[in-house]
Order: sequence, then structure tokens, then C-alpha cells
Amino acid sequence: MTKKRETIHNLTIREYQASDYEEVKKNLLEKQDMFDPVWDSEESLNREIERDSNFILVAEVDGKVVGNVFLKNWWGYGSWIFHLAVKQGYKGKGIAARLMDEAEDRLRRKGAREIALFVDVNNAEAREFYAKSGYHDFPGEYKSVVKKLYRTTPKVEYSNLSRLSRGEALRDGERNSGTPREFG
Ligand SMILES: CC(C)(COP(=O)(O)OP(=O)(O)OC[C@H]1O[C@@H](n2cnc3c(N)ncnc32)[C@H](O)[C@@H]1OP(=O)(O)O)[C@@H](O)C(=O)NCCC(=O)NCCS
Repeated sequence: MTKKRETIHNLTIREYQASDYEEVKKNLLEKQDMFDPVWDSEESLNREIERDSNFILVAEVDGKVVGNVFLKNWWGYGSWIFHLAVKQGYKGKGIAARLMDEAEDRLRRKGAREIALFVDVNNAEAREFYAKSGYHDFPGEYKSVVKKLYRTTPKVEYSNLSRLSRGEALRDGERNSGTPREFG
């Protein structure tokens, strides 16, 4: 992504701190479907940050958190970006572009050679943003498919999140709600 002209004063891109939680949560809740009560819980985010301080970057203007992006370097050379969001009232000022510049730099330094992300085909503003930022459709004839593993969102005890994050399976009694059910 090309570096953007500075269009807003007092903008800082920095790593997430525990005290940013409420603002980041509000920002995710502002965008439909972006907030997950389990994986975006305060405890879950703090745990991920302890493991990797690069996991969330926030954009701060005059001391107020107005945007965020989450990043993951996964196995191999690929990496993953999600939860990119800028608060209403702060859009169109180059904030997402600065967040993405920083995210890309950090992922590159960790050995990532490419970044993948999902964007809703109906999300015109995000698609436009990503196109201008150098992201293009996956080459080849692919179709994304998904299978919901639960009919309702499972309630997971916070104390079990670290086990889930390590990839361990929970026993039935520990995954205390949510109806496992394939949709077909
Ligand atoms: C998509 C989003 C993150 C863009 O944030 P932003 O801070 O407004 O974007 P920027 O100001 O950095 O824009 C960077 C470039 O994208 C373009 N762009 C951003 N929003 C656009 C829109 N709605 N229509 C057309 N172009 C747009 C800008 O014009 C700019 O291009 P330029 O460099 O040629 O001027 C923001 O609109 C948002 O939070 N949307 C809701 C959450 C969301 O959908 N996130 C993506 C999840 S996949």
C-alpha cells in the first residue's frame, strides 16, 4: 500500500493497551456483525495481546481511539487482517489507510509475504477502500463456502478461552450452551 498524505493532525497509530477495550468494543459494535462476545471479550483480547503485542493496532486522534485493525501472522507465509474499522465522523481522513500501512509493515517484518481478508460483497465502502489499497480478488476460480458449527452462539466460560486459543477441544459440559447443529 502506498503511504498516504497526512490528512488529519494528531493521529497516532499504536499498539492496543488493555485500557482501550471499551472504545474498541464500541467501535466494533458500531459495525454490524463485527463484535463477537467470546473472541472479542476483554479477557480474550488481553490474552492475545500478551502473546503478541502486534495483534491489535489502534488509531488515536487527540487521545481518543477512533479506529482499529486486528492482524495475525499465521502458519507459513500468509497473514490475515480483520476487524478494520474507523468510527463514524472520522472516516474519509486517511485513518484506515494509516492503520493498514502499519499493519502491513509489521506483518512484513514477521515474514508474511501476503495478506488475506474477507470482505462482504455488499460492503461497497470497504471494497472500494481495499481496491484503492492494492487488494485484489483472489486469482483463480474460487467460491467461498462456510459451515456454521452452532445454531446459536456458544457461551464459553472465560476460564476456558486460553485452552480454546491453544487449539484444545472442550468437553460437552464445558461448552455450556449453543446448539451444535450442522446446517447442511
Ligand atoms: C472501510 C473503512 C475502514 C475505511 O476507513 P477510512 O478511514 O474512511 O478510509 P481512508 O480515509 O483511509 O480511505 C483510504 C482510501 O479509500 C477510499 N475510500 C474510503 N472509503 C470510501 C468510500 N466509502 N467510497 C469510496 N472510496 C473510499 C478513500 O477515498 C481513500 O482513497 P484515496 O487515497 O484515493 O483518497 C471505513 O469506511 C469503515 O470503518 N467501514 C465500516 C467497517 C468495515 O466495513 N470494515 C471492513 C471490514 S472487511
